[in-house]
Amino acid sequence: MTDAIRPLIAGNWKMNGLKAAAAEFDAMLNGAAEVAGKADLLVCPPATLIAAFSDKARGKAVGVGAQDCHPKPSGAHTGDVAAEMLVDAGATAIIVGHSERRADHGEGDALIRHKAEAAWRAGAVAIVCIGETQAQRDAGQTLDILRGQLHGSLPEGSTAANLVVAYEPVWAIGTGLTPTSQDVEQIHGFIRELLTSRFKADGAAIRLLYGGSVKPSNAAELMAVKNVNGALIGGASLKAADFLAIAKGCP
Ligand code: 13P
Repeated sequence: MTDAIRPLIAGNWKMNGLKAAAAEFDAMLNGAAEVAGKADLLVCPPATLIAAFSDKARGKAVGVGAQDCHPKPSGAHTGDVAAEMLVDAGATAIIVGHSERRADHGEGDALIRHKAEAAWRAGAVAIVCIGETQAQRDAGQTLDILRGQLHGSLPEGSTAANLVVAYEPVWAIGTGLTPTSQDVEQIHGFIRELLTSRFKADGAAIRLLYGGSVKPSNAAELMAVKNVNGALIGGASLKAADFLAIAKGCP
């Protein structure tokens, strides 16, 4: 059943990109039609570029998303951005719970769940990130950590239409290291089981992305793994050629 899930190739630009990066985004838009048969494409630039990018992307085969949101729709929260504002700017999906936000801003599962609900309230898909650290992996705690994060971060009412889960082992992010295909298959199978037992048919259809040092050279192998329905890409998503080559690697 999960084999029929259409892959999503999502780029997380993190805190990278000035207005001049529009040229790279244009190259992605120009190449998108060629890979549209393989996967849905989404680029999550910094919030400052969402409006300009979504204007450019209108009618093209690339969606524009955001990297974080505040749980509330408005209010006295200096420096924060509401999901409604991101959607107003053109975002159709919002990443929440990225490990860099969990680590840099002390975000916990309950807050992340509220952010996912905020994305829904605004009409966006929530892309919820989970993943273990190197220390947790070394201690043999990977599955327990993932179970806890899924339980705490995913709201009730998650469906294949409103939620994407991204498994990003923290030790694989930006390091050039990746788990073996066997490890990814085991972990994605474990996540799928938990999603199916909690969300039934929807859990079987929710897209499950792998993230962490995905590049053109390893994408085809990773994307072919059972229960891998696409990728969340950091560094390699900044270059159109790499981003599109990864999408081409989808089965
Ligand atoms: P890299 O692809 O740079 O390892 O980053 C992965 C990531 O954190 C995407 O959200």
